[in-house]
Amino acid sequence: MTEIIAIAMQKGGVGKTTTTINLAAALAERGKRVLAIDLDPQCNLTQHAGFDPDHISPTIYNGFKAEIDGLESNIGDAIYETDEAFHLLPSQPELSLIELALINTLSRERVLATMLTSVQHNYDYILIDCNPSLGLLVINALTAATSVVIPIQTEYLAARGALMILSSIETVRRKKLNSNLAIEGILLTMADTRTTLTRDILTAVQQQYGDGMRIFDTIIKRSVRFAESAVAGQSILAFDPKGPGAEAYRKVTQEILAG
Ligand SMILES: Nc1ncnc2c1ncn2[C@@H]1O[C@H](COP(=O)(O)OP(=O)(O)O)[C@@H](O)[C@H]1O
Ligand SMILES: [Mg+2]
Repeated sequence: MTEIIAIAMQKGGVGKTTTTINLAAALAERGKRVLAIDLDPQCNLTQHAGFDPDHISPTIYNGFKAEIDGLESNIGDAIYETDEAFHLLPSQPELSLIELALINTLSRERVLATMLTSVQHNYDYILIDCNPSLGLLVINALTAATSVVIPIQTEYLAARGALMILSSIETVRRKKLNSNLAIEGILLTMADTRTTLTRDILTAVQQQYGDGMRIFDTIIKRSVRFAESAVAGQSILAFDPKGPGAEAYRKVTQEILAG
């Protein structure tokens, strides 16, 4: 069975893309067959994996376009090997047109799930990097997924509506788009190194949400190495394999593998 994990959160800049590429690299390091999908018109994952979104074709955009036009998507043609041991289904800026085009499409929430059926048997894990919204692309990811990882910037958690993504998950379950959708866990990212503060926040999060879902024990600390690895077009595991960032994402992966 292929595990399809959506990395989703309605806010930008919380570490979704960073989490996607580094979980992909860490799962691949553990010998898993991994596909990482860029479902964001901003194409940050595509760039982070070392590709130029303006000069890559076909991409996931072409897959959606074909499905919307009632054609076969042949999404396998849009899957690329990366320099690391995982595959990439990249994005291109035109993906931003799809959100609107989907509105008048039959079974508009299931287009991605349908697209993936022809390739998912090739993978143990498929990771979907979502755009920062609660729109139809994200609903497509939640409909295709078996579980969701919710990265959240540690300081942001107290904000009103911080976890609006939870309502979308609930809607997808209730409307029977994906009744079995699980929450893999909430991942605290960009944590300050002042450990007492982080521990206080972790305690608060556990009290507020810990009953219904896992809060990962591993907390991703703030480090400039993550931005540097993005510029280098590498995961943190390739860029700084022995560093604390790589170690942290290996630990999150261990938690996911342990179930
Ligand atoms: N733990 C971290 N510490 C410091 N910077 C980080 C960390 N994780 C991600 N970043 C950087 O923060 C920015 C936003 O992260 P990103 O993963 O792109 O968020 P999102 O996909 O949610 O918008 C990027 O420049 C990224 O390199
Ligand atoms: Mg992103």
